[in-house]
Amino acid sequence: MAGRSVVVGVGHYLPERIVPNSEFEKTLDTTDEWIRTRSGIERRHFAADDETTSDLATKAAEAALADAGLTADDIDAIVLATSTADLTFPSAATMVQARLGMTKGFAFDVQAVCAGFVFALSNANALILSGQAKRVLVIGAETFSRIMDWTDRSTCVLFGDGAGALVLEAQDGEGTAADRGILATDLNSDGRYKDLLYVDGGVSTQSTGHLRMQGNQVFRHAVEKLTKTAETALSRAGLRCADVDWIVPHQANIRIIQGTAKKMGLPMENVVVTVQDHGNTSAASIPLALSVGKQRGQIKPGDLIVTEAIGGGLAWGAVVLRW
Ligand code: UT7
Repeated sequence: MAGRSVVVGVGHYLPERIVPNSEFEKTLDTTDEWIRTRSGIERRHFAADDETTSDLATKAAEAALADAGLTADDIDAIVLATSTADLTFPSAATMVQARLGMTKGFAFDVQAVCAGFVFALSNANALILSGQAKRVLVIGAETFSRIMDWTDRSTCVLFGDGAGALVLEAQDGEGTAADRGILATDLNSDGRYKDLLYVDGGVSTQSTGHLRMQGNQVFRHAVEKLTKTAETALSRAGLRCADVDWIVPHQANIRIIQGTAKKMGLPMENVVVTVQDHGNTSAASIPLALSVGKQRGQIKPGDLIVTEAIGGGLAWGAVVLRW
């Protein structure tokens, strides 16, 4: 017998406002054609002015709880991945906790930018395996529209807002790769690459700041690091790329997604792709893709999934799980 963290519910929320690429043609020296061919993005959702990250997160959490047939009373912990929390403190996770009417347990944020959901999943898994929680809500939620420089065409056309959530539950498994639940994780960071992707402001530097990215430099790291972390996590679970039913990648750029799948030796038929509709939603992109992938009928119980992500830090990692 072995403890496993099994996904028992999934849900997501996207803000109402959808912005097609053509909107940017009005204010920037860019085209729908450039954005589509370089990134695969066709549209993205932006939060309303009075809509915050914890609003999006709460709606995604409610959808995941409904999918699991559970209520907030059944949850022991909330782990929320975000780089765009409503306030400097308290955590967005505690705000979601209050909004869900959850008066026990604990909640905290995880900040690993676009790799945030992979880090949050790994932390939630550790809480379950160490017996500190039986059921954990794991949320990725972002309002990256708040940190865009709308005059910088190389970044502001790429990002969007949204939220996704999973409910993880402690269950017994056999200790083999045939078990449902999280089978292995792999986390990495290398702070020497800070200047490739960062926000040029923050509390301690006394401003909010804007996202700055050397996109082509991040791109150069992405395919290699994502393939390696996915293969590492798979080998820790005693599995190979050929065993994978679905790659559910961070949705930053279709060319990175295609390059990683190719390096892993898997066709695009085995990849859940949402980047065309959501843009890059940072820590929200993987749970959004898991939720949409299930809705589309792609992801089914028993499927072997590898999620992988890279972003600011650089920070990157992968989680292997059986749905
Ligand atoms: O989620 C966190 C991790 N982030 C990522 O994974 C993002 C990784 N990077 C990327 O997705 C891509 O590098 C981008 C989509 C950001 C850019 O694609 P690229 O093929 O690497 O293009 P580039 O940055 O090398 O730029 C090519 C040209 C440049 O012009 P010059 O110097 O060749 O004259 C840019 O100025 O494209 C220009 N450019 C644009 N042109 C029209 C940059 N942004 C735009 C734009 N519209 N929006």
